[in-house]
Amino acid sequence: MSDEHHGSRIPEFRSLSLADRRRELAVRAELSPDDLALLDTGGLAAADAGRMIENVVGIYALPLGVALNFQINQRDYLVPMAVEEPSVVAAASYAARMVREGGGFSATADQPVMIAQIELRDVGDPAAARARIEAARAEILALADSCQAVLVSVGGGARDLEVRHVTGSTQNRLVVHLHVNCRDAMGANSVNTMAETVAPRLAELSGGRVGLRILSNLADRRVVRVSARIPFAALASDKGGAVGSEVAEGVAAASRFAEDDPYRAATHNKGIMNGVDAVVMATGNDWRGVEAGAHSYAARDGRYRPLATWKIEGESLVGRLEMPMAVGTVGGTLQVHPGARLALRILRVSSSEELGMVIGAAGLGQNLAALRALATEGIQRGHMNLHKRAVGDPAPSRSGPRS
Ligand code: MEV
Repeated sequence: MSDEHHGSRIPEFRSLSLADRRRELAVRAELSPDDLALLDTGGLAAADAGRMIENVVGIYALPLGVALNFQINQRDYLVPMAVEEPSVVAAASYAARMVREGGGFSATADQPVMIAQIELRDVGDPAAARARIEAARAEILALADSCQAVLVSVGGGARDLEVRHVTGSTQNRLVVHLHVNCRDAMGANSVNTMAETVAPRLAELSGGRVGLRILSNLADRRVVRVSARIPFAALASDKGGAVGSEVAEGVAAASRFAEDDPYRAATHNKGIMNGVDAVVMATGNDWRGVEAGAHSYAARDGRYRPLATWKIEGESLVGRLEMPMAVGTVGGTLQVHPGARLALRILRVSSSEELGMVIGAAGLGQNLAALRALATEGIQRGHMNLHKRAVGDPAPSRSGPRS
């Protein structure tokens, strides 16, 4: 099938009937009638849900939409989003269209390296213990790999070890970080098993006791970086209202507000997570893990900061996002959730890094759409129009739409 058919621009997709949207999607993503049937069941049969969690009594459904216009590193993507909030999918598509006019998103991803933490308590001489553990580096990495034959066989495994003296309530705690390349898995199971496997030997070497053994969600070795350069002309209002340079200045000013104020940065990042979480959820990944990583990374220098910033460079608005992205394209939920596997097929990604870059682009796009709206007509007009379509035209409530 030609690349043209895999393009992510589908004119008037929004105004098609549900059946026609599905037909269009089936052609672009090469889906079968069985695949399409999955879209009616939320992609998961109640009988299979019991393989995922305990005490199952049913399935909880969310809308699944497809964001259009995404071009990342010169490739087009149809981006599946599972989300309950009106306007998120439309905003992502709108932003991706503006970014496309500037050549699309550019993205890079770190190697898929997760951190396992092994806490060692009551270490009498932390400096000497650290030296002994560092001297046993090769032995510990081999021991970690010995319990993960499958991961090692696909080119993953323990890569490095770092010893940290983590004080505060005590002077006698060491924390060993194992850096583990998880390839296309999110990696939680492998990493936690490795932590439990090496912990007794580390305790022996340290002369202390084993404490906690678990991954860190501050996955700062598995970061994605996404940027977008949008010419002023692409930012101008369709309806002849705002001029592109003014919109750009408004978005850049909104970014500075978030850079200066943690209260604003929290909401700015919430908008980013509207895009991020929707794709993380559609693809069967652990959105709590991605959320924990995002916010701890945002506060990594002791002050809570925006995950994406915008500034003017020449005649363009330039945005940059950087955040941890612990997601996988194999294993975990994907083994038991056909709908999540279908979402990955719609995306046509071939690695966890590629998936992470798409998710980062959805976050940066979402942020652009929110800041553009806030800097021009305000968020309520567009948001409330979609909200009214969804729920009728309710009397104004005290809480209003969620933000
Ligand atoms: C609403 O879900 C998200 C926004 O509040 C994000 C923002 O303020 O940047 C509109």
